[in-house]
Amino acid sequence: MRTKNSERGSLRREFIKRASVGAAALLNPALIRANGGELNMYTQEERNGKPRRVIIDTDPGTDDALAVFLALRSPELKVEAITPVAGNVPLSLTLPNALRLVEIAGRTDIPVAAGADRPLKRRLVTAAYAHGENGLGGVQFPEPKVRPVNERAPALIDRIVRDAPGEISIIAIGPLTNLALAFHENPQLPRMLAGITLMGGSLSGGNVTPAAEFNMYVDPEAAQAVFRSGVPITMVGLDATRHAALSEEHISTLEKSSDPVAHAAGQITRAVMNHSRKAGYSSGPVMHDSLAVATFLDPSLVKLQEYYVEIETQGEFTAGETLGYRRAPVRRSAPFEDSAAGESAAETFQPNCKAALDVDAGRFFSLLIGRLTGTQTAVPAGRV
Ligand code: BDR
Ligand code: CA
Repeated sequence: MRTKNSERGSLRREFIKRASVGAAALLNPALIRANGGELNMYTQEERNGKPRRVIIDTDPGTDDALAVFLALRSPELKVEAITPVAGNVPLSLTLPNALRLVEIAGRTDIPVAAGADRPLKRRLVTAAYAHGENGLGGVQFPEPKVRPVNERAPALIDRIVRDAPGEISIIAIGPLTNLALAFHENPQLPRMLAGITLMGGSLSGGNVTPAAEFNMYVDPEAAQAVFRSGVPITMVGLDATRHAALSEEHISTLEKSSDPVAHAAGQITRAVMNHSRKAGYSSGPVMHDSLAVATFLDPSLVKLQEYYVEIETQGEFTAGETLGYRRAPVRRSAPFEDSAAGESAAETFQPNCKAALDVDAGRFFSLLIGRLTGTQTAVPAGRV
């Protein structure tokens, strides 16, 4: 039985390895569905406990910092690259911040490639009001010694994915500009990805405008391109992440740890906590981005439901809104009088993502704090 399974596993691996871009698109849809919509057909057993290969696209960012640490501290993952983008603060800060994070974690072997310094079509709006002027809550970490690689993020993403079609997943925790650029440069790329797990969007109101969540607000056109790309998406939006605020106890556990990663995470989250208290908020820093990484590691931490999500790009007040349809018809707004287009509604329902609607915050925080302090390293059995 073992031999049969492993033979089948190696045939599948061989198939994926040899799959040209066109062939990847011909994968048996039943097999894809059987794997929960993931193009990557490996089960944990077939991967022989091999870590899953991921690229982290990020805009560090205080909560990005803990998310990157969580990924780097998770033995189930092989982080192939980190691709900073402009978002919470400009690229001139997110890039050195990403370099600082790999240095703190002792993982300077991971390539860090500079991404887009602005959204596709809009001026950059940052969130320095929440992340501090330096993006790390104002905590001063030393200038990084390690340098970014000499390749832009979209090109690096393209190269890594093309070398291993069907194997690479992206965990995107900033505006989606780098991914949209990579898809624009190589339209075959979406079909070669195993999937995207992203922090962004909301089916229950935004955090920048009443409609839009920050990552979608900053670059709605990029988000639209990604959601329309056909890649299986897991959307970890505010519906789940707003229930994931760190407590005073979590922060002091991090601060007290002698582990350099936990200690840095403690400094950053303490700074955010102090800042939000001064601003009159009673709850602790929300770990939006770490929940996306944790969901990738263990989807049972959240409640997932299939949706067809469209991104609003035209609204004067609503750009970046994620509209989630649960069934057909998928209607558009009524056409203007002088418009040539008629009414349009898709009558068949094709979900393009699984959206996280809620979270088991207790289990999430034991994973996050346990991994950062080095006290929880075991792979959750059967969950990866
Ligand atoms: C998202 O926006 C950013 O400010 C955070 O880093 C997170 O990715 C939450 O809306
Ligand atoms: Ca982020």
